Amino acid sequence: MSSEALDYTLSDEDELVARPFVKWAGGKAQLIPEIIKRIPKKYNTYYEPFVGGGAVFFALRPQKAVLADINSELINTYEVIRSNLQGLMKELSHHRYEEEYYYRVRAQDRDPLYSSYSPVQRAARFIYLNKTCYNGLYRVNKSGFFNTPFGKYTNPTILDQKNLTACNVALKNVECLVQPFDSILERAEEGDFVYLDPPYAPLSATSDFTSYTREGFGPDMQRKLAEVCVQLDKKGVRFLLSNSSADEIRELYQNFQIDEVYASRAINSKAAKRGSVVEFLIRNYT
Ligand SMILES: C[S@@+](CC[C@H](N)C(=O)[O-])C[C@H]1O[C@@H](n2cnc3c(N)ncnc32)[C@H](O)[C@@H]1O
Repeated sequence: MSSEALDYTLSDEDELVARPFVKWAGGKAQLIPEIIKRIPKKYNTYYEPFVGGGAVFFALRPQKAVLADINSELINTYEVIRSNLQGLMKELSHHRYEEEYYYRVRAQDRDPLYSSYSPVQRAARFIYLNKTCYNGLYRVNKSGFFNTPFGKYTNPTILDQKNLTACNVALKNVECLVQPFDSILERAEEGDFVYLDPPYAPLSATSDFTSYTREGFGPDMQRKLAEVCVQLDKKGVRFLLSNSSADEIRELYQNFQIDEVYASRAINSKAAKRGSVVEFLIRNYT
């Protein structure tokens, strides 16, 4: 592809439609209207500490924002989209949808030289794997290596110039950080707003997908998160949190407003289990 073909100019209309540049487990796309209508009209800085694919951020396009996630490959990709879009698009144009090639690219993080790959190479690899792996699922093994198998698609779009350009515009003036949720929230001040979408508490011992990271996100983390929310409330920071309707969640947030909303869960190994489930939207304001 010529470098000329990699320039994409947004019309005013296009600018409005930045969408997540990756498919992400727990992506909030279908709950967006329920979430957006509960977000305060005015606030200072917008914080999203479990940003994932950023469906809420891209729908909202706040003036001033801090996005964070514990996944360093993901946050590197946000950074590169913001700061080196042309380099990223060029690198992405070299990737191709072929099974053998996919497994070679997937194996790169096992290479001792992987840490010397440039941020652009890592970001392109991240997007490429997301677009071509099974179900867009980000999954790592115990050693932290990406291990989702190849996915079957008809002509997947690996380089979406229009959307990447829209994301680049949305990310101007946005801070993106690799940080665990508790440290990022120490920064939030009175008048700020925080949207939190942590890995969900499972409804039963064997049910939901919760391992975005090697460490997982168990009951101790859910309790720690609830404590952080209490601290935010004390500081005068408004928060809105999504979680499952597990009993432990109702108990942890009993002093806050809990709304029940309906969502259909897309990432589940058994298609038969995809269906509508009740989820919680929890907030500390009216
Ligand atoms: C439910 S997903 C967020 C989905 C996102 N709202 C979207 O629309 O795609 C949860 C995210 O939390 C991140 N995460 C897991 N543990 C974390 C931690 N301790 N601190 C910060 N982020 C964490 C995961 O990497 C994952 O991206």
